[in-house]
Amino acid sequence: MAKPRKRYVCQACGSATSQWAGQCTDCGEWNTLVEEAPVAVTPFQQKHNLQSGGRAILLSGLDTDVALPDRMATGIAELDRALGGGFVEGSATLIGGDPGIGKSTLLLQATAKLALAGKRVAYVSGEEAADQVRLRARRLGLGNAPVQLAAATSVRDILTTLGGANPPDLLVIDSIQTMHSDLIEGAPGTVSQVRAAAGELIRFAKERGTAVVLVGHVTKDGSLAGPRVMEHMVDTVLAFEGERSHQYRILRAIKNRFGGTDEIGVFAMETQGLSEIANPSSLFLTSRDEGVTGTVVFPALEGTRPVLVEVQALTVRLASGATPRRAVVGWDSGRLSMILAVLEARCGLSFSSAEVYLNIAGGYRVSDPAADLAVAAALVSALSERAVPIDAVAFGEIALSGEVRPVAHANLRLKEAAKLGFGRALAATAPGVDEAGMRLQSFRTLGTFVEHLLGR
Ligand code: TYD
Ligand code: MG
Repeated sequence: MAKPRKRYVCQACGSATSQWAGQCTDCGEWNTLVEEAPVAVTPFQQKHNLQSGGRAILLSGLDTDVALPDRMATGIAELDRALGGGFVEGSATLIGGDPGIGKSTLLLQATAKLALAGKRVAYVSGEEAADQVRLRARRLGLGNAPVQLAAATSVRDILTTLGGANPPDLLVIDSIQTMHSDLIEGAPGTVSQVRAAAGELIRFAKERGTAVVLVGHVTKDGSLAGPRVMEHMVDTVLAFEGERSHQYRILRAIKNRFGGTDEIGVFAMETQGLSEIANPSSLFLTSRDEGVTGTVVFPALEGTRPVLVEVQALTVRLASGATPRRAVVGWDSGRLSMILAVLEARCGLSFSSAEVYLNIAGGYRVSDPAADLAVAAALVSALSERAVPIDAVAFGEIALSGEVRPVAHANLRLKEAAKLGFGRALAATAPGVDEAGMRLQSFRTLGTFVEHLLGR
């Protein structure tokens, strides 16, 4: 018999090689290659034994004999909004997030609500004992919800128990990294195990019509398989974000086969669990003082909802020679480098001898490209020590040419800013006064914008 070949799998991206290396050649992560059991090869005959009969169906025939899958609205409006209306039967959803961010709490609240509404719901925890989950449910005031609780880690046990004549409408697996599939060898949490366990659970979802929700931890050190390897297997991927030290949490759809990915759900973590924030627009604004440099308010748009956030920048002059640091919280660091480069090349502002720190206040993460102009304003204000007027908001996309581009839904952003008491907007819109009473100051190039900020 041939000697089984060694196989090393990157725990971050799932790529496999036959030779160990310190760095994964695919994703570039360090120290993530772990030896895993070789994949069993399926015999040829079994491979070609078509179980489904190989039937082809017509796309145009779909609307006549296949009904649209049902959605289960959880009644937690912010969760339903991120899902695009609720969990879809027979689908698989992955909820990823840092440990302790509140994934278990959110799903316990959702399962309890669905169970009280008459759905058959099972919550399987591989991390906590059933009593622990029950205690938490009681603390959240959900102790009397008829949720089937189990503490289990064997996928076969779980599917055998639940796969009877009445499979549940919703099955929560908390977390996928603790699950063990006996189809392959390997410790729970390795990429192969996560993939195999997720594969079995997803097949169960498709075959039995159960909506399966998989919880996945994201860790930076790579000791647990990142849920990234599962992203293409599931129908919906939600990310639960936020700073643990802050109260607010954002649920963002990264992928959704049954809906859009631009809406977010906003929650606050309180002693009674997660509460919904229906109107988050002023949530991330702190009270600011006139004359403080390096801060600008950016009216972000999340789906159809505006959220005003404070962009903060700090620059620290360095003695010549040292390499300056750039640190970013809540925004893309590559995008910051780009804005710094455009400010340097097109406006003659040099940041090369200064450390640059950029922070989005309140633990919010900005993904809206319209933030460029607000970031540039904060940077210029920090460097020049001239405050941006306290009643101003700024938005616009900056091109490498130094051009400031108008962005989508300017009127929604302006309306919300006016509602929250702002009086002027720095943007690439047409100048004038809009219907909400905002004074619009228009800039087509970053150069004229910087001149304006510097008072020239
Ligand atoms: P949890 O849902 O266990 O996080 P995850 O499953 O993502 O790891 O949430 C854990 C944190 O939430 C923990 O630090 C305590 C806090 N928490 C509250 O503040 N209030 C509550 O009602 C609950 C249940 C948890
Ligand atoms: Mg948990």
